[in-house]
Amino acid sequence: MAAPGKHPEMRVWQERPLNAETPPHLLAGADTTPIECFFVRSHGPLPEVGGSPSLVVDGLVGRPLELRLAELPARFDARTLTATLACAGNRRSELAALRAIPGQIPWGAGAIGTAVWSGAPLAAVLREAGVRAGARHVAFLGRDEASGCAFGGSIPLAKALSGEVLLAWAMNGRELPREHGGPLRALVPGYVGARSVKWLARVTVQREESRNPFQRDDYRLVPAGREPGPGVGVALGELPLNAVILAPADGATVPAGPLAVEGWALSGGGRAIERVEVSVDGGRAWSQAELLEDRGPWAWRLWRARLALSPGPAEIAARAWDSSGTPQPPDPAPLWNPRGYANAAWPRARVVARA
Ligand code: MTE
Repeated sequence: MAAPGKHPEMRVWQERPLNAETPPHLLAGADTTPIECFFVRSHGPLPEVGGSPSLVVDGLVGRPLELRLAELPARFDARTLTATLACAGNRRSELAALRAIPGQIPWGAGAIGTAVWSGAPLAAVLREAGVRAGARHVAFLGRDEASGCAFGGSIPLAKALSGEVLLAWAMNGRELPREHGGPLRALVPGYVGARSVKWLARVTVQREESRNPFQRDDYRLVPAGREPGPGVGVALGELPLNAVILAPADGATVPAGPLAVEGWALSGGGRAIERVEVSVDGGRAWSQAELLEDRGPWAWRLWRARLALSPGPAEIAARAWDSSGTPQPPDPAPLWNPRGYANAAWPRARVVARA
């Protein structure tokens, strides 16, 4: 299967709508992800956004707005920031290996990418509209038809006013590509990708969380043993602390002797990555990895470790800590949930070292 405009080695799960993830070797070593290598997660076909589209800002505001998208860059000071976008279902395949997760894309660890985004801070737009008393949440609505309705979701008002949430029109210095939500998307750094609504048509300030099915029924952490359904479980927001090994690949054969291990670590809520450790014996002995360039609080932190492997099979594991001191869980089994979200267990790569 192919994804037009994307790197030929992208792993395409579905062509229409396009759902494609990035193989680890295309993520390794690049602290921002080229657009052709950036994963795509779309629930419905690409919407046609013709004419001179506008963005409606309504709900609990003093002055409802209808803003022509073409006028946004002139009307609001742009902010540019580096942020990692991660799908809530990233690393689902590891959970599905423990117990089936039917009806969901079995994403490996490549439903993630880091880009430089530019747009108007949502806070500035809301300031112009004037948020009224009683407001608690800000809902986004897209223009696509996904399972019979436009895709939507919401974030707490405090996050919406934080300054880092963008109405983004550019990605890596280019006009926002259509498959990534162009001409305009919400970009909610530190939150699951589902809240970064693409093809943004409407921003509504309201008392309650969005009732859109992608907030009310889906993208919720449902306890194992319960049936997903409207309002069941917790609506996903902030990303958990997570880390992935990008090289060597799981299942690889490598030369015995010195070994370079690399990967990324990321936390939600703007928490910094403080330490990453790597083990070549499945997690008994650990060495500290070197943290590479800091691209700010909303971006993953790439890391690298130089270790030594004796001939034979080895299990490489990694674990990260963020500024809250919270450790990553070693084992994915207790994290299993019916929709397969938020797998943040220690990543492991089983390799064979040849003498
Ligand atoms: N917005 C709309 N309108 N429709 C969608 O299907 N998918 C969401 C989010 N925004 C989606 C959407 C999900 S689940 C993710 S992970 C991100 O977009 C993926 O963004 P990307 O395709 O630019 O990588």
